[in-house]
Amino acid sequence: MRIPTLLALSAATASALPTTDKLFKRQAAANAPDSFGLAYTTPPPTADGGAWSDAFKRAAAVTSQMTLEEKLLVVTGQNGRCVGNTGAVPRLSIPALCLQDGPTGPRPVDGHTQFPAGVTTAATWDRDLIYERSRAMGQEFYDLGVHIALAPVTGGPLGRAPAGGRNWEGWLQISLVLERWYADPYATGEASYLSVKGMQDAGVQATSKHFIAYEQETSRNVYINKSAGAFPGLQLTDQLPISSNLDDTVTHETYLWSFAEAVRAGTSSVMCSYNRINGTHGCANSDALNGLLKTELNFQGFVVSDWGGVWATQPSVYGGNDLDMPGNGFAGILGVFYGDELEELVNNGTISESRLDDQVNRIFTPYFASGQADKTLPEVPFNAGIGGPPLDVEYRLVQKPSTLDLIRKIGEDGAILLKNDGGLPLKSPARIAIIGNDAGPPSRGCGATGDACPINNFNGTLSDAGGSGYSQPLNLIYPLMAIQEQAAKDSTKVTWSLNDTDIVTAQATAAGADVALVFVSAWAAEGYDRSDLNLSGGGNALVQAVAAVNKNTVVIMHIPGPTLVESWIDHPNITAVLAPLLPGEQTGPSLVSLLTGEISPSGKLPFTIAKVVSDYPPNTILAKTQNETLDPQTYFTEGNNIDYKWFDAKNIAPRFEFGFGLGYSTFEYSNIKKNETFAFDTLAIQKTNEKFVGQKEGESLYDVLLSVEVDVKNSGDVVACEVAQLYVEFPASANQPVRQLRGFDKVKQAAPGSTKTVSFPIRRKDVATWDVIRQKWAVATEAVTFHVGASSRILPQTITHTF
Ligand SMILES: *[C@@H]1O[C@H](CO)[C@@H](O)[C@H](O)[C@H]1NC(C)=O
Ligand SMILES: *[C@@H]1O[C@H](CO)[C@@H](O)[C@H](O)[C@H]1NC(C)=O
Ligand SMILES: *[C@@H]1O[C@H](CO)[C@@H](O)[C@H](O)[C@H]1NC(C)=O
Ligand SMILES: *[C@@H]1O[C@H](CO)[C@@H](O)[C@H](O)[C@H]1NC(C)=O
Ligand SMILES: *[C@@H]1O[C@H](CO)[C@@H](O)[C@H](O)[C@H]1NC(C)=O
Ligand SMILES: *[C@@H]1O[C@H](CO)[C@@H](O)[C@H](O)[C@H]1NC(C)=O
Ligand SMILES: *[C@@H]1O[C@H](CO)[C@@H](O)[C@H](O)[C@H]1NC(C)=O
Ligand SMILES: *[C@@H]1O[C@H](CO)[C@@H](O)[C@H](O)[C@H]1NC(C)=O
Ligand SMILES: *[C@@H]1O[C@H](CO)[C@@H](O)[C@H](O)[C@H]1NC(C)=O
Repeated sequence: MRIPTLLALSAATASALPTTDKLFKRQAAANAPDSFGLAYTTPPPTADGGAWSDAFKRAAAVTSQMTLEEKLLVVTGQNGRCVGNTGAVPRLSIPALCLQDGPTGPRPVDGHTQFPAGVTTAATWDRDLIYERSRAMGQEFYDLGVHIALAPVTGGPLGRAPAGGRNWEGWLQISLVLERWYADPYATGEASYLSVKGMQDAGVQATSKHFIAYEQETSRNVYINKSAGAFPGLQLTDQLPISSNLDDTVTHETYLWSFAEAVRAGTSSVMCSYNRINGTHGCANSDALNGLLKTELNFQGFVVSDWGGVWATQPSVYGGNDLDMPGNGFAGILGVFYGDELEELVNNGTISESRLDDQVNRIFTPYFASGQADKTLPEVPFNAGIGGPPLDVEYRLVQKPSTLDLIRKIGEDGAILLKNDGGLPLKSPARIAIIGNDAGPPSRGCGATGDACPINNFNGTLSDAGGSGYSQPLNLIYPLMAIQEQAAKDSTKVTWSLNDTDIVTAQATAAGADVALVFVSAWAAEGYDRSDLNLSGGGNALVQAVAAVNKNTVVIMHIPGPTLVESWIDHPNITAVLAPLLPGEQTGPSLVSLLTGEISPSGKLPFTIAKVVSDYPPNTILAKTQNETLDPQTYFTEGNNIDYKWFDAKNIAPRFEFGFGLGYSTFEYSNIKKNETFAFDTLAIQKTNEKFVGQKEGESLYDVLLSVEVDVKNSGDVVACEVAQLYVEFPASANQPVRQLRGFDKVKQAAPGSTKTVSFPIRRKDVATWDVIRQKWAVATEAVTFHVGASSRILPQTITHTF
């Protein structure tokens, strides 16, 4: 099926389209190829591959021997075993490259690990675990023959909207969003760097996504005519995707930050997003792709479209997208662009062959740089392609036993203890009651129905969320199973009630026990946003019913992000609340060691939990019902003040602030000081072109200007970990958020009474703001204040510095 493109529309028809869209305007204005009215009429080609200069030379040598047809095969998705496939060029020993979802493990495939979600890994604040998770996941992708993993999410979404979801869309669950890390650009930047590096150290190319300002699911694709299967049919009745409208300062200071770190880590590819940015489609946005990404960040790899994110060939090729996915794959249901049409455009001189060569070079350069060209990857055993010929599918086990140990540790260290009035650790109870469907097994096992496990909280425990970010567990060890195993060793009696709406049985089960563990969850997935911030099903009612009959009620929450707890959090019978978020397939075992006290909880919130929805910035999701327009627009009016920065700016007390979390020990902070040792940046695998005011030859925005040091003492009586955090306060004249995270470090396994000195390196960028006039970063010229402590609101140590 070939869907007519915008270029085929007459000028009269095109002028009837929404005029706020730059792409449409350009089409309506003229058909001349270079009249886009943009600063980047010809996308900047890779100069030399940067740190990949050897790979670039090899790539260019291969490209120069290719025919036009062969080049088109490489830049246009083809049918094949993977969710995305490039065309092979056997004559030149170029294989079909396999691109495969997703951020919590390969999907939809069996025989691998369901990793803890990004948000859970974020909550560990442990750089080693963030890296190791990505490396272990990369190994599984590699062992399945995947060249390019469609992971990690690197700040699109960042977490502007507390209810951002990726709920089910009903047509195809492709791409992904759920995998957000921290509702903060600095911390997400650190996670982006480490997760790209971990993935690529395992020999798999990483895809950083979704570029850029992709912050809601609602209206990300056309919906009005979805029933007619028209996506992206471009009928005049169709709706355009949401346009994220944001200014230059917010673009640089909040949304571009984490992508800069992904580029510095040497990400092979960047995925452009479904949403429009400032009115122009993400995958045809020259300002974003050619300007921000390829020029300012000096990105040397390739841009791949989100599946169906290309709306027309010519604007996308010139807009900076290199690889069209799924291209000819998926039986054409997402539109067929590039390919034959690109051939005509090159043949009639509309698009220069040098631009096509650059697309191919950009795809090949990281292929050579990754080392994949010099070895033979394992055969792909699965068939995830759509619309291609049937292929044999072989079951292959790629999970390593050591990976189970790793993900159990992430689950332990990422669980956040929000309240503890003595409920935890458990005090050798004789009888434990387990209440709630979220403690139990999925009704049909996992894998029996593809992505449909878990589908909602009536289907067992929530260990991951849904959509293309979901991955199937090999063995889901659910909480009830793991608790029973421990209870058998301890001769503890365990009873349970797993039906959330059967309150009578829940209360009867809980009433006689020494402790009642209530399991609740909140469901979220790709494709739609959560409609509220409540627990799913009857979660709140279940917690209240149990607390009414058991004075030692402990609540365990499996949640994907901000979730409100006001209706019960202060209940005197609720003695502890633990939030393991989405811990992956070792969810049960990772919980048990926290319940018994073998390990002290050390997770801290990577987002803010408010008291009421209205405490969050308003209108961060433009709902369908709010505006049934063909041209939906969302304005980032809160600017840099997302999540905790909003609460600080408006002086609103959250229920639990960003960075907050308790443990079974206590920590004291003292002796803050400066160490003014300068250090050049050593972490850039690829250097960006970001400039700063007063820059001298050889200097980088990422050079360390000084370090702030502080002593952290374990003042309690058990071995524990502590996440120390540093926030910068700019001078008032800088017009910045009240405080911004610019450092974190996890003190690990601290013995009672021991003290460790934590050092936070401060780079130029950490104390700079974006100067829109000069189009450069500018280091603060007046004194800045550094605040150090245990959360975004517990900051006992302060020191100032003038740069
Ligand atoms: C959707 O498309 C179908 C087929 O082109 C058309 O008949 C129908 O009117 C459209 N529906 C809306 C709501 O525009
Ligand atoms: C959005 O538009 C503004 C104003 O033209 C520009 O400064 C900013 O960089 C753009 N943001 C993105 C992400 O393209
Ligand atoms: C070039 O080919 C494209 C695609 O077929 C067509 O739309 C366009 O009008 C052609 N341009 C010229 C100058 O022939
Ligand atoms: C599992 O979830 C699906 C979809 O929400 C629902 O239709 C089904 O009834 C659930 N299964 C059980 C056993 O609750
Ligand atoms: C759960 O309990 C409710 C209320 O007692 C009952 O209507 C429902 O059938 C039960 N569900 C299952 C799956 O047993
Ligand atoms: C969410 O819970 C609050 C109480 O905490 C309630 O007022 C509100 O109606 C709930 N929203 C929905 C959609 O259930
Ligand atoms: C707490 O639990 C006890 C039962 O152990 C119950 O009698 C009491 O009413 C509960 N308190 C509240 C505030 O519900
Ligand atoms: C809906 O969008 C239209 C067109 O962009 C605008 O005129 C109108 O004010 C919007 N309505 C709301 C409620 O946002
Ligand atoms: C200051 O920092 C440098 C670089 O991190 C380190 O080598 C040195 O030991 C530190 N000096 C003191 C006094 O802590």
